[in-house]
Amino acid sequence: MDSTKVFSSLAVDLSCSKCRKNYPINQLQYYSTCCNKPLIVNYPEKPDFKKEELVGRESSMWRYLEMLPVFEIKNIVSLGEGMTPILEMDRLAVKYGFSDLKMKDEGLNPTASFKARGISMAISKAKELGVTECVTPTAGNAGGAMSAYCAAAGMKATVLMPNFTPKIFQDECRFFGAEVILVDGMIDKCGEMSVQIQKETGAFNISTLKEPYRLEGKKTMGYEIAEQLNWELPDVILYPTGGGTGLIGIWKAFHEMMAMGWIPENTKLPRMVVVQSANCTPMVDMINGKEQNLNAYGESIANGLAVPKAFGEDLIHQVVKESKGMAVAVTEEQIMEGVKEICATEGICVAPEGAAVWMALRDLSQNGFISKEEKVLLLNTGSGYKTFEEYR
Ligand SMILES: Cc1ncc(COP(=O)(O)O)c(C=O)c1O
Repeated sequence: MDSTKVFSSLAVDLSCSKCRKNYPINQLQYYSTCCNKPLIVNYPEKPDFKKEELVGRESSMWRYLEMLPVFEIKNIVSLGEGMTPILEMDRLAVKYGFSDLKMKDEGLNPTASFKARGISMAISKAKELGVTECVTPTAGNAGGAMSAYCAAAGMKATVLMPNFTPKIFQDECRFFGAEVILVDGMIDKCGEMSVQIQKETGAFNISTLKEPYRLEGKKTMGYEIAEQLNWELPDVILYPTGGGTGLIGIWKAFHEMMAMGWIPENTKLPRMVVVQSANCTPMVDMINGKEQNLNAYGESIANGLAVPKAFGEDLIHQVVKESKGMAVAVTEEQIMEGVKEICATEGICVAPEGAAVWMALRDLSQNGFISKEEKVLLLNTGSGYKTFEEYR
């Protein structure tokens, strides 16, 4: 990318996801102070960006940069994130009778998870706005990604993670030069402590959906799904949901592409399925009309799913409702079985989160919510190489 080029992103402003009150784009933003809800980056009603312009662009998420909120190319902090492959799962499809089964393998991103997308975006925007220090609570992968991108940007990084987080996630952050703080509690406790550090040091806190930029990076998964599938979307997408940024982002991307005419206005959008661990089911409970019980939610081998309270829960719920999707949970035993089955049958080293969506598909095809003739896309959000030790 030519870093001397001043590029004009089409981003206009931000708005509160609840009341739509506007916030300026040229200042570092967190969440809406009017309603205490996530902020959303806005673009023109009909952005002037043609999909033909993508031809010949670099193979990373930054190929969509008109629809990303960084204004100058020199501020982009990139390690080559995005444009991960969509793989055919032919052998499992045959074994279980699916006619069109695919997996987008996000484990092939820098730092081995889809977190690279959101963090590349957030650190780039932070750089553009003069930030020198960042902090984040994490289940593991976001911390590793933030540490790497802060290293690449020359920023100080502080990461807070539950003390039961596998050591490899801790080591990864330390190797990228971050300070790691282990917390006796789950990710919500890490979140509270990160606010404390933000207040004390002035560090930019990139806690999930409490700042608006990671969502913009994660939404590029939606753009890629359309482009890589030649603008024909799947019938169903299964997404392993913790904080839900990717799910919300993919849905945002579909609507932006309709506004730009990249896909027809009347496109039948995929049903979006939220998948959680049976150990931690806040979104499954909320979407199925059950009361959330924060005390009942615990850890999971799929640590990205151990989020007892998602700040963007209303938006997650809205995506599931609008898309006529649903929310389901799978057990820890199912997740383990799924990891082994996908590794040994397809040669894809999935994270436990990726195995969770496969096992959810098996359940949902049995109860009839998903028919075996439908086009199904599974999101594998991370690499299984980080969790091998946990299976012994
Ligand atoms: C591998 C993996 N999958 C899924 C998630 C959940 O992602 P989201 O916050 O977008 O729901 C995480 C979050 O830590 C993760 O690391």
